[in-house]
Amino acid sequence: MRVTVIHGEVTQVSTPALIIDLFEGVTHPEGATGAVDQALDNAISQLIAEGETKGKRGEMTLVHTFGRIAPFRVLMAGLGKESSFNVNTIREVTAEACRFLRRRGITSAATIAHGAGIGGISPKDSAQAIAEGASLGLYRFTEYQSRDDDARDNMDELSIIEMDGSKLHELEEGARQGSWMAEGVSLTRDMVNSPPNVMTPKRMAEIAMEMASVKGLECTVLDRLDMQELGMGSFLGVAQGSVEPPKLITMQYRGDPEHPDNNLGLLGKGITFDSGGLSLKTATGMEDMKRDMAGGASVMGAMNILAHQQPKINVTGIIGATENMPGGGAQRPGDIVRTMGGKTIEILNTDAEGRLVLADVMCYAKHLGVTRMVDIATLTGAVVVALGNRITGVMGNDQPLVDQLLSAGQHMGEPSWQLPLHDYKDMIRSNVADMKNTGGRGAGSITAACILAEFAEGVAWAHMDVAGTTYTDREKGYMVKGATGVPVRTLVELSNSLARQA
Ligand code: BES
Ligand code: MN
Ligand code: ZN
Repeated sequence: MRVTVIHGEVTQVSTPALIIDLFEGVTHPEGATGAVDQALDNAISQLIAEGETKGKRGEMTLVHTFGRIAPFRVLMAGLGKESSFNVNTIREVTAEACRFLRRRGITSAATIAHGAGIGGISPKDSAQAIAEGASLGLYRFTEYQSRDDDARDNMDELSIIEMDGSKLHELEEGARQGSWMAEGVSLTRDMVNSPPNVMTPKRMAEIAMEMASVKGLECTVLDRLDMQELGMGSFLGVAQGSVEPPKLITMQYRGDPEHPDNNLGLLGKGITFDSGGLSLKTATGMEDMKRDMAGGASVMGAMNILAHQQPKINVTGIIGATENMPGGGAQRPGDIVRTMGGKTIEILNTDAEGRLVLADVMCYAKHLGVTRMVDIATLTGAVVVALGNRITGVMGNDQPLVDQLLSAGQHMGEPSWQLPLHDYKDMIRSNVADMKNTGGRGAGSITAACILAEFAEGVAWAHMDVAGTTYTDREKGYMVKGATGVPVRTLVELSNSLARQA
């Protein structure tokens, strides 16, 4: 999908479809919508007067122009009430408008820069949201479907039309940023949507290497033997039940090489299939556990975008990739493993494997000199019970970092909510090791984070439990069924906001 900016007047641009907009309650539209209305002899005002179009959020009204203006059709997209309008509205409405047009076989369209200038939204923010909304709303995962007919045609071009020449530069910058964002998020979605027999730890490592060489990042991949030498007994304990070799993937972006302190670690859980191990999951829904690598895939998507943006900060992406399988060599409940940092963990439930992998990944991040880190993990079913499928759970040991992460999410339309990292240490106390890998029945997301906190000593750390938010069953706005690509844009925004304050 290509998003371009065109200097021109909306009624004079030849396009199969022009997307304009309408706020709820407006009876005589102004701006670009007003210009179209005038050129069509008040056709739009009449539709409003007759109650056929009301500007309600998500409402789509298609008008054919029969040669009276250059656009062949005009699609009026309802923006809802002006008081609740924000950049996220632009993202969602653009996505829905593009899908509406695609269903009608339209493969190229134009749009106005919705809201640019309203309520503090800059032309750049508007264009970025348009590019993100269009690309992500039209996203499809078709790699394994052989059907190849007209219904499969996707929209490949969207032009933003602007009359005011002074806004063009900003619009172009926004369109570029939005396209980068969409590229990274789509990479993450593709990886998460891929089947677990294909998206193995080895495949994740290959994609990381490929990306690094194309985007100019450094990338190293550690194998089982390397990890043994580093003493990663906790990570390797999870990997030992599988015939697929584990990979520890590190991607390095250096945006501020003179200041090593200006760093951020992005640590991703990359369980390419979570069967539960010997503490086997039930069959119902087990296929969903292909997405247990979404944290790792999100880190890779974010690194891809940062490589384009080049912010002034050093970002280290580390992905602990392995399967969690119940093979003959699998670890047993009752086993005790030793992490890279020396702390020991008693395994009570082999299905609580994410924390075991992350424990060593966190030790390794510190070993590499990372002093500020965010981990992203589909860690607990409990967070889905607490916050559902639309809100990411956040915890951490450093409130300024947590606050910055929460506000990055808010800014990008990827909501997250902080849960208390209450001291439930007694619940993970073990009689035979330094800790056990599961807490009691309650507060499953918090006790999981308590284990991670044991490995975050001495660094600023925030944890995102994305078990609910990486996947969706419904199509809404720029989300389509399947992998969402959350929280890639939040991670990118956090990196940029840290870079700005450095
Ligand atoms: N990967 C799962 C968590 C999960 C659940 C992700 C639902 C996505 C959707 C994790 O490894 C897991 O199995 N957690 C257990 C922990 C328990 C055994 C302490 C859980 O949440 O049930
Ligand atoms: Mn598990
Ligand atoms: Zn898991």
